[in-house]
Amino acid sequence: MDDNLYRQRAAERALDYVENGMAIGLGTGSTASFMLRGLAARLAEGRLQRIVGVPTSEQTAALARELGIPLTTLDQHPILDLALDGADEVDPHLRLIKGLGGAMLREKIVAASAERFIVMASVSKRVQRLGERSPLPVEVVAFGVPLCMRRLAALGAEPVLRRDRTGSPFVTDEGHMILDCHFGVIADPEALAAAICAIPGVVAHGLFLGMASLAVIAGPDGVVELWADS
Ligand code: A5P
Repeated sequence: MDDNLYRQRAAERALDYVENGMAIGLGTGSTASFMLRGLAARLAEGRLQRIVGVPTSEQTAALARELGIPLTTLDQHPILDLALDGADEVDPHLRLIKGLGGAMLREKIVAASAERFIVMASVSKRVQRLGERSPLPVEVVAFGVPLCMRRLAALGAEPVLRRDRTGSPFVTDEGHMILDCHFGVIADPEALAAAICAIPGVVAHGLFLGMASLAVIAGPDGVVELWADS
């Protein structure tokens, strides 16, 4: 069956956790786009009311505006009730790799600002161990690219500077570059996260550890909800 259908089903289930009057984080990517469309439909039908959202990217902000979803900022709503976002990999402990869409810095800030972070994904995103399929995106300041590449390689990665369709370096919404780091299976995500954070010039990485409280995963057998280890 079409993976897009699973993404949509996961997004619809995650929306069941949205309640009237909530301020929510709006993720980025195709699964998050399904969530935005579902949210707009619920608002239009009156099934949800008084929702405001903080977008995690300019792309999400544009789609939300187009759909008529009221937007707010973290200045106005420093604590969000809920954040809903997709992921590139989800392990059994709800540790995630995110950032293939290039928005992980704002995504991480928004998820950390929320009382509950729900990740929505098709079953294709489930892995036993992080790094099985996805590179780990690391966002770095442009000035630090050479040093960050060297240090990330020393940690065992093959870092590749992400480029856009024109071949120019991809620039994030915050004006930084992304190094897609091919580590292979990541044996100790917490240790790797700490080592990457210690590199001067690194702004963010795509490891989201201990952040998701619930993963809503859709596949051929339906939608399953996985709660974080308590
Ligand atoms: C965006 O920066 C990413 O973290 C996305 O959440 C991730 O790439 C998932 O996107 P899809 O829902 O399109 O797979």
